[in-house]
Amino acid sequence: EKGTYPHYMLKEIDEQPFVIRRIIQKYQDDNGELAIDKAIINEVLNADRLYIVACGTSYHAGLVGKQLIESWAKIPVEVHIASEFSYNMPLLSEKPLFIFISQSGETADSRAVLVQTNKLGHKAITITNVPGSTLSREANYTLLLHAGPEIAVASTKAYTAQIAVLAILAAAAAKAKGFELDFDLTKELAIVANVMEMLCDAKEEMENIASDYLTLTRNCFFIGRAVDYYVCLEGALKLKEISYIQAEGFAGGELKHGTIALIEDGTPVIALATQEHVNLSIRGNVKEVVARGANPCVISMRGLEGDGDRFIIPAVHPDLTPLVSVVPLQLIAYYAALHRGCDVDKPRNLAKSVTVE
Ligand code: F6R
Repeated sequence: EKGTYPHYMLKEIDEQPFVIRRIIQKYQDDNGELAIDKAIINEVLNADRLYIVACGTSYHAGLVGKQLIESWAKIPVEVHIASEFSYNMPLLSEKPLFIFISQSGETADSRAVLVQTNKLGHKAITITNVPGSTLSREANYTLLLHAGPEIAVASTKAYTAQIAVLAILAAAAAKAKGFELDFDLTKELAIVANVMEMLCDAKEEMENIASDYLTLTRNCFFIGRAVDYYVCLEGALKLKEISYIQAEGFAGGELKHGTIALIEDGTPVIALATQEHVNLSIRGNVKEVVARGANPCVISMRGLEGDGDRFIIPAVHPDLTPLVSVVPLQLIAYYAALHRGCDVDKPRNLAKSVTVE
């Protein structure tokens, strides 16, 4: 039920703080510590490499997950688009473990890979929102998102739920390997939930950004470096799928290798700046596009803000920024689609769950 909300998408964006709090609750063990089923952790410890397989938004969550697992648990991770996997099958390591990420648990492209890896005798975990879904039944283990039904075609709360569960998995694997993390993930996720709530309250600012930058434009670019780049891919996907604006996410450093040719007078460029180690470089990229006429919209993290930034996100743990930086991008996409008269919840040519390969 969407209740008083005009669209499911807006309701689902607003649910994100509650979903994060529910995930914290659901993944707490008897001592109140975030934990993952022992059998799953044992599989992770036994593996020499993790292979994340997913499509669309779930693939984008996987990219963030790779970053978290590699930096916290020091386990190598590859992330693959499911539809490419079977003919571009990577050379597998000796002890691979597969992680399928799928909101619906029904995506045919992902399932095709699971059928293949099952045949090869490799173990698999499915991270899904739907208990009893095909991918859940056919994998050895399931981690649930607890996000509640996602009705809008554009995925929002499932993306942040996927990243939160991947963070808990990464932290649990790190702990099992004897690595001390220098922060308390429960506390940091609770901060994330609070910041998400503040961002959900910033709808008017996001609506203004959508009308200032996206009412008439043909295209829009999202640029970021490090983990911001992955969030840019997701921000661009959100915008293109519901507003039909041609939107692309780029790594800041790649601009000069070709994409910058597309920048014209007034081209909107949304830049994310939440990462201290690349802050100077991404701001350099913003200057480069501005010099070519772009209309820049910088969204930064408190502590890293610069003159003229359009919006500043309250600070969260630097590894967890995707959980919050995506929220403004979801809202901007929502309002852009709304202003352009698009059917937000049911965009053309798309189905909620893609059950054909
Ligand atoms: C984008 C979107 C799609 C899905 C993709 C995978 O908003 O919803 O890109 O993320 O079709 O779907 P699941 O996660 O159900 O496998």
